Amino acid sequence: MIKLDNVSKLYGTGSGLTDVTFTIEKGEFVFIIGPTGSGKTTLFRLIIRDSLPTKGSITVGDWDVVKLPHQKLPNLRKKVGVIFQDLKLLSDRTIFENTVLPLEVRGVNALEAKKQVELVLEQVGIAAHRDKFPIQLSGGELQRAAIARALVLSPEILLADEPTGNLDPKTGKDILKLLSDINAKGTTILMATHNLEVVDHMHKRVIALEKGKLVRDEKKGKYDSS
Ligand SMILES: Nc1ncnc2c1ncn2[C@@H]1O[C@H](COP(=O)(O)OP(=O)(O)OP(=O)(O)O)[C@@H](O)[C@H]1O
Ligand SMILES: [Mg+2]
Repeated sequence: MIKLDNVSKLYGTGSGLTDVTFTIEKGEFVFIIGPTGSGKTTLFRLIIRDSLPTKGSITVGDWDVVKLPHQKLPNLRKKVGVIFQDLKLLSDRTIFENTVLPLEVRGVNALEAKKQVELVLEQVGIAAHRDKFPIQLSGGELQRAAIARALVLSPEILLADEPTGNLDPKTGKDILKLLSDINAKGTTILMATHNLEVVDHMHKRVIALEKGKLVRDEKKGKYDSS
């Protein structure tokens, strides 16, 4: 359902990704690991066509992402939800308003939108914070808010970029459990992380990047750091 074939992304300053090839099936939970600058965020940006590859092909479902007509981009962005590394929550809107935004943009009826937002805030465990502004929330709560906003369009695929990055171990585990539950309900998840302890613990497929190259792709194996 997500297929990359010899994908490279060259930036003016150097290489973001080099000849990356993999296929991820519907329903999988896959960790994307690698040190800072190894290309994890670049990979996510290519999958949602926030950026175009220098070469290679990217397929999501039936769509050729590189050739996707511009007017079909909203369909791709509905199919693939993203939790950005820097969250991208709007500071002048409440958690409810941040979460409802993707529905408003699509012209979903206000009553229906409200219902969906309430459901998803409940699901991620921050219903009580719906009327607060991002600055009033803890790191873990903000991460949940970003997950809620990514989930509100019921995506088939969720890309989570370092969702446990700045959290204490317990809060990180809670977020991982939430993502794991979302995956169990059928959503395909790609999670970028530096946290190898989390990766070991989960026994999921691991794709490792180093300096833009795919150096390991282990299906459900324990991550071997040797
Ligand atoms: N827009 C850009 N313009 C130029 N270079 C970029 C751009 N985005 C990323 N890069 C470079 O591409 C490489 C990969 O960056 P990327 O953000 O994908 O790494 P990452 O694995 O997500 O790192 P981190 O773990 O720190 O988030 C880095 O060398 C980075 O400096
Ligand atoms: Mg990154």
